[in-house]
Amino acid sequence: MLKVIKMTINGKEEEVAFDSRESLAETLRRRLGMTGVKEGCEVGECGACTVLIDGTAIDSCLYLTEWAEGKHILTIEGLRKDTGELNPIQQAFVDEAAVQCGFCTPGIIMSAVELMNSGETFTREELRKKISGHLCRCTGYENILNALEDVVGKK
Ligand code: FES
Ligand code: FES
Repeated sequence: MLKVIKMTINGKEEEVAFDSRESLAETLRRRLGMTGVKEGCEVGECGACTVLIDGTAIDSCLYLTEWAEGKHILTIEGLRKDTGELNPIQQAFVDEAAVQCGFCTPGIIMSAVELMNSGETFTREELRKKISGHLCRCTGYENILNALEDVVGKK
């Protein structure tokens, strides 16, 4: 039998039905259609499934859905404004051509949002360490770092 809990997803309170063995990544993708949350390794190695939970970037493949009761979840789907305007980090990824296949992109962007929300700025080397939990098979990371520097880099 499915369990039902409430959580706020991208600013909207939702009642979510799920199997108690499910990870948040599975629930977001399969029950709520949020396929911007990517499942790569499903063991906490690649960062593709990163979402913000109460403002902290977390691998949602390692996070049981039932732990999210009453929490605020932000996914890549919640970043674009209603007007269609992209979040500044999304725009920076476009401007810097930081996307190839795109599989790693939502997770890295969500980690970047956590950095933006901190109000701090970072050197390129610090940013390299900050995204070290994300694997990208395509870009070689340099354009991703350029995009991160655009929004949270030390000037
Ligand atoms: S799918 Fe979650 S860390 Fe890889
Ligand atoms: S753009 Fe393909 S894995 Fe990063």
